[in-house]
Amino acid sequence: MATLKAHALFLLVATTSALLLSSAVDAICVSRKPQSLESASLKTLPQTPASFKRPPSGPLASLSASFKKPLSNALASLSASKAAVVVDHMVADICHLTDYPDICISSVGAHLKGPADVLSLLAAEIEACTEKMKSAAAEVTKLAADPSASPATKMALSACDENYSSALDSLSSAQEAIAAHDAGTLNSELSAVITFVTTCDDSFAEMTMNSPLEGTGRILQKLGSNCLAIAARAHL
Ligand SMILES: *[C@@H]1O[C@H](CO)[C@@H](O)[C@H](O)[C@H]1NC(C)=O
Repeated sequence: MATLKAHALFLLVATTSALLLSSAVDAICVSRKPQSLESASLKTLPQTPASFKRPPSGPLASLSASFKKPLSNALASLSASKAAVVVDHMVADICHLTDYPDICISSVGAHLKGPADVLSLLAAEIEACTEKMKSAAAEVTKLAADPSASPATKMALSACDENYSSALDSLSSAQEAIAAHDAGTLNSELSAVITFVTTCDDSFAEMTMNSPLEGTGRILQKLGSNCLAIAARAHL
């Protein structure tokens, strides 16, 4: 009985703390956002990578420090996932230069190594696109293995398979172009990625079939578009 009460009390404390923590994090997100949008305007955005400096992360640092000493492991992991939602000011600024800032912000996080600047964000968005392309290729393989797939569907899928594999080659050439400081190749390889994805969609459209890869293709095109937009800002 006493254990049960202790559990109930702990749950109450944990829930209340979680609520307090999440509203604290939300408050920070909200208060930082207008500032990020403002500085994302083309006029005020610094033009050289050297001037892209990580902003002082004082309040965020102390917030995440306070996350380090919660009462339980459950709370600790909850705080960690909440903290990951807090968007780096630099990431928001650069992502707002793309046509799909929300996709940019949500996709780069897992791939960003070190502080965010135009080049690290570009590499991260290319990696996000590569990962999605690999899962699209796996989706094609799975769909093609379906015995109920029509010959026409199989033909379109085989084109998609080839096009996605070409797109993966282009993505890796794009990464090499960054290392080689070759802006022209970078641009043409990233444009090719979008073309390959569109060609896959066209294979279905030509046969007046609905593509089972429509949603996947849409996300891949947006990721590709974001890569191009960030690449246009990169000084190689
Ligand atoms: C996509 O794959 C098909 C089938 O192999 C091919 O004919 C087409 O040229 C490819 N598209 C591009 C843009 O390479």
